Amino acid sequence: MYIAIINLHGLVRKEDIEMGRDADTGGQTRYVVDLVKELSKREDVEVDLFTRLIKDVRYDAGYSKSIEKLGEHARIVRLNCGGTKYLRKELLWPYLDEYVDNLISFFRTQKKGPDIIHAHYADAGYVATEVETYFQTPLVFTGHSLGRNKLEYLRSQQVSEEKLDQYYHIHTRIKQEERTMRHANLVITSTHYEKDTLYAPYASREAEKMKVIPPGLDLETFFPYYHYEIQDPSITEEMKHAQYTMVRELQRFLTNMDKPFILALCRPDARKNIDLLIEIYGKSKDLQAIANLVIVAGIRDDISSMEEGERQVLTDMLLLMDRYDLYGKMAIPKHHNPGRDVPEIYRLAAMKRGVFVSTAALENFGLTFIEASAVGLPFIGTDKGGVKDIFENCESGVLVDIADHQAIGDTIYELLTDTQKWQQLSHNGVERIRQVYNWETHVDTYLEQLGTIKTMKQDLPALAKRMANIEHLVVCDIDNTLTGDMQAARKLADVLKTNQAHLGFAIATGRSLDSAHEILSQYPFPHPDILITAVGSEVHYGTDDVPDKGWSNYIRRRWKREAIKQALHDIPALVLQTEEGTQRTYKISYTITDPANIQTIMEQVKQALGNHTGMHHLILSHDTYLDILPYRAGKGDAIQYLAWKWGLEVGNIVTCGDSGNDRDMFAKPFKSVIVANHEPALDALKRTKNRFFATKPASEGVLEGLIHFKAVKP
Ligand code: GLC
Ligand code: MG
Repeated sequence: MYIAIINLHGLVRKEDIEMGRDADTGGQTRYVVDLVKELSKREDVEVDLFTRLIKDVRYDAGYSKSIEKLGEHARIVRLNCGGTKYLRKELLWPYLDEYVDNLISFFRTQKKGPDIIHAHYADAGYVATEVETYFQTPLVFTGHSLGRNKLEYLRSQQVSEEKLDQYYHIHTRIKQEERTMRHANLVITSTHYEKDTLYAPYASREAEKMKVIPPGLDLETFFPYYHYEIQDPSITEEMKHAQYTMVRELQRFLTNMDKPFILALCRPDARKNIDLLIEIYGKSKDLQAIANLVIVAGIRDDISSMEEGERQVLTDMLLLMDRYDLYGKMAIPKHHNPGRDVPEIYRLAAMKRGVFVSTAALENFGLTFIEASAVGLPFIGTDKGGVKDIFENCESGVLVDIADHQAIGDTIYELLTDTQKWQQLSHNGVERIRQVYNWETHVDTYLEQLGTIKTMKQDLPALAKRMANIEHLVVCDIDNTLTGDMQAARKLADVLKTNQAHLGFAIATGRSLDSAHEILSQYPFPHPDILITAVGSEVHYGTDDVPDKGWSNYIRRRWKREAIKQALHDIPALVLQTEEGTQRTYKISYTITDPANIQTIMEQVKQALGNHTGMHHLILSHDTYLDILPYRAGKGDAIQYLAWKWGLEVGNIVTCGDSGNDRDMFAKPFKSVIVANHEPALDALKRTKNRFFATKPASEGVLEGLIHFKAVKP
């Protein structure tokens, strides 16, 4: 079974995940990498973790490696999406179609499509559903957090509607979550809370598709604190060094290092409610007397240069520290190595008989609670959301109502002073986390679930499979290339049908999709595999006319439709075509009223388009039709794009046409057939390589050309 796992955003790598370096690199990243590592140990599974390629001086060069091995049967594969600069996840939306294309092309080059696609978060959900329409692959979705829930939160924070849209793109996210869930065959959540509450407002949530599978934890990293006390020989020098460095860092803040720690560890995110914990501690002389407060909230160099949300949280922390005069009692370390140091911080806190506290009002999951419990550090956290599952499974901490500040303070005090209770919770954590939250159990259940959906779509026709089986692709213009002689058309249609198994059939026309269908319905040709319409500015596939969004997204660059129309407005010989379907998003079409003066008219056009009209592609046919497309678009460009995307050999593509708007297909490295009834201007192409001038007109000439290039047998 070949599993494609997609996790687009954040900083993804095999070792030393930079947890909390930014808002997009956290629990989700860790989860996905750990899942793949465990999967890589299984014999009968192959897995690729697809993410974004990042080549950015601010980030480690490792993120720019296309392939990173994750284990025996697993790799991280990095593909381009919206340039190579690091981008926060909300900015990735416009580039996802590019990712889709790169992913398809990747599958094509390795000659293998996935058996299962598992998308993490809404952005990957979009990519996966697109890929699924081509490959008909069963789809698994894990939302991690959900847009509707976030929207509710952001509104409660009085975030403006404008910002919700422009900064968070929250409505796009929700829409894609709905769409992904509609397509998904399985939706995996980590907790019952997520399944029952967070997913509840989604229309496409279907109970039978939902499955709770608690995630695992890297238990070798999160070993119990007392291994230090018994001087376990497996403790490496590196670990000891990490702990020593951490102690040194804390010594810069704390006067009495012997007191237990009240430890908070989270991203500098307003929702984590760190201020509340500082206030509780700041107001309680009792707590200050018996414990230090240690807050590990991400990594920072210069707060003033940080992203707004994080800057706010960190500034508030410092101000509160000052207001309550917590110097010597409160530590907010600047640096730590998230992968290496975090387990040591928990263990240090446990050795000092401290507690892990989170005052976040709601945790969807609560990875840190599991980590703390695993090393034997008892937790105090909210009685809402995912922490409840952890509490029920392990009884390794105490749940409180976060609105009840007194209760939080009292519970901290109680746990720090009641040794017996502390021991019990600590012991429960170490024992039960190992039973419930281990990757082996998780992956067993996971693979069992995948097994049940694996064959679900097997009998559906898969576009990608069809594209993979094509050896030759014949691309035909319609008017005067296929049309004109019904008897010859019948002969050609028969040949296309007999050779269908290996010969793909595509259309490349100036007509719109509807108009192309209309004329084709009068002829006996097989349904085309691909329809390139509007002179190459639109691409659709198969009987369902699945649009190729990657293509529209690619060609729209520097396209200034209105500016072009404006600039040509005053040229009298140009009349905008009015027939239905002739004006398209990426095509402006004119009729030339005075073809005798074509030279002069074209000069005028070029001059008028000189400035402020972006870049464009001018296509003249029969001196009568003038089409203007984005500079990247054209029939030949579209074919070249298809060749790349589907791994088709350009030399095995035969393009056939008769007029000026076909010229673009003759200028590329394909084999070309120019039918006998061609427009005279094409004579200039005679005696160029790979151009075959048929002796017969229309369909008959096409057939002649196919035989000439050995795409079919005579
Ligand atoms: C088709 C289209 C028209 C275009 C012409 C030449 O007739 O309908 O809009 O100008 O082809 O490409
Ligand atoms: Mg034609």
